[in-house]
Amino acid sequence: MCLDVADKEISLNDASVSAPRRLRVAVAGLGVIGEGAALELAKAETPYALCAALVRDPGKKRAEELKSLRAYSDPAVMLVEHPDVVVDALPSGEAGRRLIEAALAQGVCVVTANKQAIAGALALLHKHAAQNNALLTYAPSVGGGAPMVETVQLARGEGETREITAILNGTVNYILSAMKNGASFDGAVKRAQDAGFAEPDPTADLSGEDARAKISILTYEAFGQEVDLNAIRVEPLTSERANAFAKGGGVWKQLAKITRHANDQIDARVAFEKVDHDTFFRKVEREGNALRIVNADGRAFTCEGKGAGRAPTVGSIFADLQRIATRIPALDPGRPENALRRGRSFS
Ligand SMILES: NC(=O)c1ccc[n+]([C@@H]2O[C@H](COP(=O)([O-])OP(=O)(O)OC[C@H]3O[C@@H](n4cnc5c(N)ncnc54)[C@H](OP(=O)(O)O)[C@@H]3O)[C@@H](O)[C@H]2O)c1
Repeated sequence: MCLDVADKEISLNDASVSAPRRLRVAVAGLGVIGEGAALELAKAETPYALCAALVRDPGKKRAEELKSLRAYSDPAVMLVEHPDVVVDALPSGEAGRRLIEAALAQGVCVVTANKQAIAGALALLHKHAAQNNALLTYAPSVGGGAPMVETVQLARGEGETREITAILNGTVNYILSAMKNGASFDGAVKRAQDAGFAEPDPTADLSGEDARAKISILTYEAFGQEVDLNAIRVEPLTSERANAFAKGGGVWKQLAKITRHANDQIDARVAFEKVDHDTFFRKVEREGNALRIVNADGRAFTCEGKGAGRAPTVGSIFADLQRIATRIPALDPGRPENALRRGRSFS
């Protein structure tokens, strides 16, 4: 039984029933992103039914709308609720990877916002998903509300991609924007934290680890090839560097660049550049993210949007859920662990 009372539960024995049912969705992590997704899923008018959550402390008080949601701390136990899809909004890469592997092994589709869980492992995880007739999607893990994964897929479908340039870290962009307008480094970090873009510990953003994970995901999406995470050169944002940019003037951005050379070698790096003459990147302010792809035939594809925060990321999660909902009927419902799918049609 799902949380949402409006969900039509259909008897598995009743083969004559063909009414569409809501997709059962479990949410892992009820923090900034996961709680936002769960609150949307709990609304009666969505085509989804929120059936379980994974958290660190199941006894913790939750939002009123989620108080009857069954919460577990063990992924294996949560999966006994037979979700069709798990939304991974865990803050830990390790815990996320374990959850994704466990879900896919049971033929459960996964939408993940957790870049650290998938960076460097997409080839393996997609193989795992295909072997178990499941889908793995991760648009929310890169770009927040900017449809970066989708734009890379579009460009790839149109021809050979040569170069990708992107602003991938909303916190770093927010800090650089705030300092250009006179804020101190510490003041800008605090403002980014207060606005909910930066974590209480902003190390992953400032060190460039966040951008490193995201650029590796985009590289896989563009070229179908993993890059060694350690081979991606990354410049961190230190207070010295940020102060020098602010003092020197001009518009500085942290740009992630992926280039495919004529010999097919792929080079990925994250570095700071002055973009005064680049009309596309210089206007990206605050937590904005932006992406420009140039294909071998010279065609350019771009996208931009809010790169961090609850609303844009939850929007991206729902876009991936929709993509899965339209593809789930094509997946094999024959295996015993997918019993809930058997005999059902999905809206
Ligand atoms: N914040 C953003 O703007 C943003 C944007 C795009 C993507 N993301 C990604 O989305 C993911 C979630 O980010 P967030 O900001 O929502 O994180 P967060 O607020 O720190 O998430 C905390 C939630 O995760 C649960 N949790 C923590 N460790 C767990 C574990 N080992 N097992 C089970 N549950 C665990 C906590 O449980 P308790 O409630 O019991 O403590 C809590 O509900 C991250 O991977 C992040 O990189 C974030």
